Amino acid sequence: MAADIDRAGVAKAYGRWAPVYDLVFGKVFDHGRQSTIAEADKIGGRILDVGVGTGLSLSEYSPTTKLCGVDISEPMLRKAQQRVRALGLKNVETLAVMDAKNLAFPDSLFDAVVAQYVITAVPDPEATLDDFIRVLKPGGELILVNHIGAESGPRRLFELAFAPLARRLGWRPEFPWARLANWAAKHSGVTLTERRPMPPMGHFSLIRYRKS
Ligand SMILES: C[S@@+](CC[C@H](N)C(=O)[O-])C[C@H]1O[C@@H](n2cnc3c(N)ncnc32)[C@H](O)[C@@H]1O
Repeated sequence: MAADIDRAGVAKAYGRWAPVYDLVFGKVFDHGRQSTIAEADKIGGRILDVGVGTGLSLSEYSPTTKLCGVDISEPMLRKAQQRVRALGLKNVETLAVMDAKNLAFPDSLFDAVVAQYVITAVPDPEATLDDFIRVLKPGGELILVNHIGAESGPRRLFELAFAPLARRLGWRPEFPWARLANWAAKHSGVTLTERRPMPPMGHFSLIRYRKS
């Protein structure tokens, strides 16, 4: 079993990714980004994009949706700030360095919280999800997209073998679906409303929860 992930290590890893992130992960992750944004824009209002990275998602939201973006990596966020300036995105209210588990926002502020390719990179996913729910308005939606580990077979073996290196690159490839399902089952104020398989071959999932 690979050692667990730590926040400083992840921040360092994304500091190294920042100069090449858009080139490596821009297109690959685009379908998931577009799908989560389509769901978030149906809700509109004020949206928190956690782990906003270099801000690839920001220009894709409707210009009437107010956006706040946070990320643990300053170099990634600097790229997002440059992008907002270059594109003149007036609907981006805040971009701030912040830990996803300790959001410096009051309770019930956002209509939706979006986290694209983030939840498997945080050290304590359940406590992080708790904080996402805290900042959501009642009736609001938490929308995730992420690679989810295989339950068995050759893909599971590959993910377990790749895990130690992936930790150093900033994520957990073997992350099990059960953690996300069990978190919702135990949280009295949350309903899991959708798990949608995403390409390639359903290895990624779009996941929606509603705060009651
Ligand atoms: C795979 S990237 C995804 C970036 C962006 N959402 C996208 O779709 O391209 C993961 C992002 O999550 C950020 N991240 C990782 N751990 C975090 C934490 N504890 N708090 C906030 N952001 C975090 C990383 O710095 C990185 O920018």
